[in-house]
Parts: sequence; C-alpha cells; structure tokens
Amino acid sequence: MHFHDCFVRGCDGSILLAGNTSERTAVPNRSLRGFEAIEEAKARLEAACPRTVSCADILTLAAREAVVLTGGQGWRVPLGRLDGRISQASDVNLPGPFDPVDKQKRDFAAKTLNTIDLVTLVGGHTIGTAGCGLVRGRFFNFNGTGRPDPSIDPRFVPLVQARCPQTGDASARVGLDAGSVGRFDTSFLRNAPFNNGPRVHCWPRPSAALVKG
Ligand code: HEM
Repeated sequence: MHFHDCFVRGCDGSILLAGNTSERTAVPNRSLRGFEAIEEAKARLEAACPRTVSCADILTLAAREAVVLTGGQGWRVPLGRLDGRISQASDVNLPGPFDPVDKQKRDFAAKTLNTIDLVTLVGGHTIGTAGCGLVRGRFFNFNGTGRPDPSIDPRFVPLVQARCPQTGDASARVGLDAGSVGRFDTSFLRNAPFNNGPRVHCWPRPSAALVKG
C-alpha cells in the first residue's frame, strides 16, 4: 500500500482518501488490503494526540513495521510528511503485473528509480499473497497452449495449481514467495529465475533516489 501511495503524487497518503473517483478506486488499487489497520492507528493517534501525526507518516511507519514484524531489517524513518488533499483515479500510473519488464523499467525511470531499484523493490513480494484469479492463467493454459508458462520454474507449478485450481475460487489467495510467505527474507529473489538468466547473488547499491526515499 505504501508503494501504491508513493508512486502516485509521492508518499502523501493520497491512497487513503475515500471518494467515488479517488486513487483507491483505480483498478491497480482495488486489490489493496489493510486500510482498516491504518484507520485504526489514525483513530488512536487522534485520540491521544490530535492533529499531529499525518496519515502519510502512519502508512510509511506501518510499512517499516510490517517488514520488522516479518523478520526483516528496520530502518530509520524521518517523519513530518504532510497529507495530500488530491486523490484521483486518473492519476494512477502504476506498472501492471502483465506489463513487460521494459515497460516496468520505463515506469520506474519516470520516478527517477533505476533497474536496481526495480529489482530491489519487487523483492518486497517476499511477503504477501496474490489472488488466484490473477495468477492461475499462467499455470494452466498459458496463451491458449493448454500448458503452464514454460518460463515458470517447474517446482512451483504443482504448488500453485493445487492452491489455485483452474475452476476454483478466484478470490482464494496464494503466497507470492513459495514456502516463506510470512517471512521477509531473500528467497523471493532467489526463487525468481529472471527470464532464465543468472540468479541474483549480490546486491549492487540502489540508486540515490531510493536511498533518499
Ligand atoms: C512492477 C511493480 C509491481 C507490480 C507489477 C506488482 C504487482 C503485484 C500484484 C499483481 C500483486 C497481487 C495483488 C493481488 O492479487 O491481491 C502484488 C501484491 C503485493 N505487492 Fe506488488 N507489485 C509491484 C511492486 C511492488 C513493490 C515495489 C512492493 C513493495 C516494496 C510490493 C509489495 C507487494 C505486497 C506486500 C503484496 C502482497 C499484498 C497482499 O498480501 O495483500 N509490490 N503486487
């Protein structure tokens, strides 16, 4: 949710604003979950200390806490973000899951994020799940071939097929990181074949844009 917020108009909490045409109504945001956790934190903070902590800061801190709670490293979060007042579905320009990597690279570059940033940030998929309806096409009848996408590591095919049967519940969910869905670790990137190229072994420095946050 923090990524979806930051990608559109910066990290200003605009993803949280309700409204018939607000950002959260746009297609890429309809799968976001957990708004109630942010709303509860905001309600408690307002009760304890009114008009002091922005929703944008709460969302940024929640992202860090989610990583820490699942076993990842923490980092210092400078605070003081102001909440945006504008939230429009038509501004949402997030990269899509079916976009080719080149398009994802271009979308990130438009936000001053480089390819290392893209790979690093996509490693965020070490936790969380995806809806079966979204992923199962590649596991049963890829491009009408009647077979799984041959670029998928064959070890994962039966796992996802069992979790997301072809005619089963599309809203059932499957872990994004087989075997360690609730752990913030490096297995998502180690599992990703990156188009059958070399696997990721080392961590080059991310771009200054990402370090500055
Ligand atoms: C090219 C950029 C990205 C694409 C195309 C993408 C796509 C997706 C898709 C399709 C899902 C599954 C949605 C669903 O079915 O509910 C998902 C889930 C998720 N994504 Fe991304 N994502 C991107 C970048 C990121 C980044 C940068 C992060 C964090 C740093 C991130 C964190 C997550 C998390 C934590 C989930 C699990 C959500 C849940 O369990 O409800 N994603 N992403």
